[in-house]
Amino acid sequence: MSDLFSLKDRVVLVTGASRGLGFAMAKAMGEAGGTVVLNGRDAGTLETSAGKLKADGIKAEIAPFDVSDFAAAAKAVADIAKKHGRLDVAVLNAGIQHRRPLLEWENADFQRVIDTNLTACFVLAREAARVMIPRGEGRIIMTGSIMGIVARPTVHAYAAAKAGLGGMSKTLAVELAPKGITVNVICPGFFDTEMNTALTQNPEFNAFVKSRCPLGRWARPEEIGGAAVFLASRAGSYVNGHMLVVDGGLVDNL
Ligand SMILES: NC(=O)c1ccc[n+]([C@@H]2O[C@H](COP(=O)([O-])OP(=O)(O)OC[C@H]3O[C@@H](n4cnc5c(N)ncnc54)[C@H](OP(=O)(O)O)[C@@H]3O)[C@@H](O)[C@H]2O)c1
Repeated sequence: MSDLFSLKDRVVLVTGASRGLGFAMAKAMGEAGGTVVLNGRDAGTLETSAGKLKADGIKAEIAPFDVSDFAAAAKAVADIAKKHGRLDVAVLNAGIQHRRPLLEWENADFQRVIDTNLTACFVLAREAARVMIPRGEGRIIMTGSIMGIVARPTVHAYAAAKAGLGGMSKTLAVELAPKGITVNVICPGFFDTEMNTALTQNPEFNAFVKSRCPLGRWARPEEIGGAAVFLASRAGSYVNGHMLVVDGGLVDNL
């Protein structure tokens, strides 16, 4: 049974893995036996995060680059493939948030969120596929959001990017499946990470999460790990073009 979820001998890139959900997914996939390559923008922070995983016996490496520097992103994927001779799983997770009332939005902020949360996933999926296609197998997993499905005010670019991932992942899924590659999106609900500090410290928003989410609480980062292992492993081999919502039932709760 454990073999079904094994990532032994798999090389896994996780973008945005210095903390939060990316780190939690890298940890879970490392515990499943994968060699995990952690990405973020700061090499020092990544070294610290990789060190925590190594202390747990996980094979962890770092790949510092800014996902919105598309040339750097493409080079990083090529470097991983050159070093390991393969890239089995690409978890495209790095993301940023920008919350403002509509009339305070600058075009540049909209573009920055789209570049990081959507265009970078396109570039990295293409470059991962370039490495995976010759081997005839691979898994691409993107971190979407319930904000691509349901709405709250102020997060216009974020919602556009996450909804965009939903559409783009499906076109990638149907195009790449004949080449042995699956493409899926994990859509988290409200997780207690640094991205949400402003919200977790806001009593009104806390009350909203507690009343709206049937499980009655914020999610802990480690609660995303199982979904990533599932989609990356043999257990998820026939799951393709899917949006896996991990939200404690929040979007279904009227
Ligand atoms: N937390 C939630 O409730 C929630 C809900 C739905 C979806 N999500 C999605 O889950 C993903 C992770 O969110 P999180 O909550 O874990 O956020 P977080 O705690 O803010 O972590 C974001 C991670 O992304 C990295 N990052 C940011 N910009 C980057 C860039 N341009 N290039 C490379 N790395 C970059 C950060 O590292 P550096 O800053 O060191 O680069 C960090 O490792 C995001 O896509 C987010 O939209 C989160």
